[in-house]
This record gives sequence, C-alpha cells and structure tokens, in this order.
Amino acid sequence: MINTMKRQVPRRRFLRTLGGTMTAGVTASLATSMQRPVIAAVNRAAGSAPQQVAADESFWREVQQSFSVDRAITYLNTSGASPSPRVVTDAITRQLLELEKAPSRNLFVPLAARMEPVRTELAKLFGCAGDEVAITRNATDALNTVLLGLPLSPGDEVLTTTQDYWAMLDALEQRRRRDGIVVKKITLPIFPRGMDDLVQAFERGITPRTKLILVTHPLNLTGQLLPVKQICEIAHARGIEVLVDGAQSIGHFGVKQAELDCDYFGASLHKWLMAPKETGMLYVKRDKIAKLWPLFPAPDSVKNDDIRRFEAFGTRSPVLLAIGEAVAYNNDLGAQRKEARLRFLTRHWVEQVKTLPKVRFHTSFEPGMNAGGIATMEITGVSSAALTAYLWSRHQIVVFDVARRTTEFQGIRITPHVHTTLEELDRFCDVIETVVSKGLPPTA
Ligand SMILES: Cc1ncc(COP(=O)(O)O)c(C=O)c1O
Repeated sequence: MINTMKRQVPRRRFLRTLGGTMTAGVTASLATSMQRPVIAAVNRAAGSAPQQVAADESFWREVQQSFSVDRAITYLNTSGASPSPRVVTDAITRQLLELEKAPSRNLFVPLAARMEPVRTELAKLFGCAGDEVAITRNATDALNTVLLGLPLSPGDEVLTTTQDYWAMLDALEQRRRRDGIVVKKITLPIFPRGMDDLVQAFERGITPRTKLILVTHPLNLTGQLLPVKQICEIAHARGIEVLVDGAQSIGHFGVKQAELDCDYFGASLHKWLMAPKETGMLYVKRDKIAKLWPLFPAPDSVKNDDIRRFEAFGTRSPVLLAIGEAVAYNNDLGAQRKEARLRFLTRHWVEQVKTLPKVRFHTSFEPGMNAGGIATMEITGVSSAALTAYLWSRHQIVVFDVARRTTEFQGIRITPHVHTTLEELDRFCDVIETVVSKGLPPTA
C-alpha cells in the first residue's frame, strides 16, 4: 500500500502528470488552478494519519468541490460507475476537442504512442511491469479475454462462485456450450466465520480437472473481500491458474500484484479509480501472454508475447488518455487516505440505520472482511426493487438493487465515494428511517 504519511504533492509533479497526457496547445495552468485547493489540502494533511484525515471534513470539502456532480442528486452507486473529478472531465473535453481538429492524425498510430505513458502509470499503480498491462474498454473486456482466450479442452474445469459478476458467468456458460468445458460454481456464505472458511470453500471445489479459478476481489453485491492470495497459493500448488476480477478493487484500496500473486487480473477504471467511462485494464503475467488468444485478433506485426495484442479493438478514443489524470488524482489523494475515508463514510450511514427495526445487512462488518466502501442492506418486508425505484423517483437518491443480479438475497447496495458529503448520507438515512416506520407509499 502507498504510504501517505509525510508525503507532499509537489506542484511541478502534478503539472508534469497532467501535461503528460495533454495535447499540444493546451496549457496546464487551467487544469492546475482548479486542482489547487485539493493540492493544498493534501499538502496540509501530509503529516496526519489516514484515519485522522478520514474524519477531517475541511479536507474532504475541497475534494468534494473538485467534482461537478449535481448536488440535487445523491449518488451512491460507485460500484456501478463513479463520477470523475473535473480534472478528468476537463481532460476528456480537451482530448475530444483536439481530436476533432484532424481525427485521423490524432487516432491510430499517434494515439497508440500516447497510450504508453498511461500504460506505465497503470502498471505502477498495480505494481507490475508496463509490458504486462493492456488498456481495455472495461472489466468485461479484460476478464473475457482470459475466460474466452485461455486454451481449454472439453472436460477441463473452471471454478468460480455463484456471486461472481453475471457477464463473466455468461462468458463461461458460452464456453461450456461451445467448447464443452465444465463450469463449477460454489456458493459462498454471506457471513463467513473467517477467511479460512472461504479458502476451504474454494479448496473443496478443486478437482484434478480444474485449470482456472475465477475469483472476485471484492464481491460487488456484498463488499465481501476474498482471500485471493491464499486461493492463489492453493491453486498454484496444484498447477491451476487464477484470474482475479478486480473491478471493485482498483482505486478502492491499494491493490498490488505482489500482494495477490495472481496470473491474470481484470478491472474497470471507471468505478473506484474515477477514470473516464469505458476504460479498463488487463494484467497478464509476462510468461502467460503468448498462450492467451486475444478476443480480437491482432495484426502479425504485434508479437505473440506483446501485451498490446489484447488491444486490437479497432478505432479507439483519445478519451482513454484521461486515465492518466485519474491515476494522478488518486495517487495524490493517497490509497490509504481514500480507503480510510470510504470506511468512514460507510460507518457514518451504517451506524445510523443498523439499529432500526427490520433493517438487516448482507455485508460482514467483522475486521478485514469487507472492502470498506460497499455495504448492502435490506428492510425486511420491503422489496428492494420498489425501494430502489422509490429512492430515485421521490428523493433523487441512486442506489443499486442487488436482487437484479442474485436470487440468494435482496437488498440495496450503497457505495459512496470521495465526492459524497455526510449531508447526502444523512438524507439517505432519514428516508430509510421513514420507510422503516411508515413503509413505502402505495404509489411507490
Ligand atoms: C465484480 C464486477 N466485475 C465486472 C464488472 C463489469 O464491469 P464493466 O461494466 O466495467 O465491464 C462489474 C461491474 O459492476 C463488477 O462489479
């Protein structure tokens, strides 16, 4: 994890980072002046522990104001997609305006060259080599590259869980029908007694035919962290590879390849990292690149062991260059500070509603068991679909109805982010309290 203690953000570095993905003719000063209050706040907080900064509302007020979110809306669905700070949305606008001057001169080869610093920054973020990171369009792209591209024979098994993301389970189902592989899904307890419970659940699912384990880190429906490192250990000891679905981890907390030791890792960047929408990354351990079939065949000029062979999507948009600004913004906030704040925000709303009658949680709050920014609650007797619709239509509060994606339980998933104010969370809690005492209005 990144050490945020005593770390100053030099203004020059910020300028350089911003300039690194900027097109000619755009001055860095515009973007930088908008970030100045955040830089000042980060520098003021340099000597303080992340837990202390997490509760410092004057620090987070500056951060909140660096977004152009609509405060008439309470947005609590980071796990779906996060608002980006203005430094990112401005970069998107700049890139698009520059593009339109001469599209073909800004796309294709020039764009490919300008993606390289972004690749380097993503690799640093994940703690791997630049030639192990492909820039994809989202997590689905990244993860499907492995699920559909790994050579497997009929009867080979892929082990995963019933709580993995639907698009990955769909990809495996197609592979089952097309290639005759076996997809084995284990059901995880919502409240495991400890990480060992989860490791053992995976261990019991392994057979001599298991070739790949798909594990999500953390689960998007509950925020449950999975013991990825231990799962990798038991898998590798049996010659099994591990693909990690990190859609909910990158930018949520500091996550490094060495801490997981996975073979493959796919993530969206438009969630906790706050990067432009339709951006993602795929990590492939260097010695596994050549054996993986790309989703879209790359030209012969791209060597088999070149990670760029997984980026042959056709024409791409320079909007992805603004990933660089998102990484810089996240780095400057600091992974530990961000994680501490997300835990603080979750505690803030959970403490207010947890003692209300009929409120129950589908998230474990035992130490070390959840990711911090994700928690799922239910009001017994109230449909989560109806509650989600009501929160939006009457209160402009955006949450996610987990019953859309699982039949194992129902509830609303609440995922605030650094732009979220305590007042917004209080507003949400007030509405929940009213629904608990009065129920949903008949027309909701
Ligand atoms: C765990 C998990 N995996 C994969 C995805 C897919 O992400 P994307 O839509 O960026 O492809 C999501 C999206 O919510 C997710 O939560």
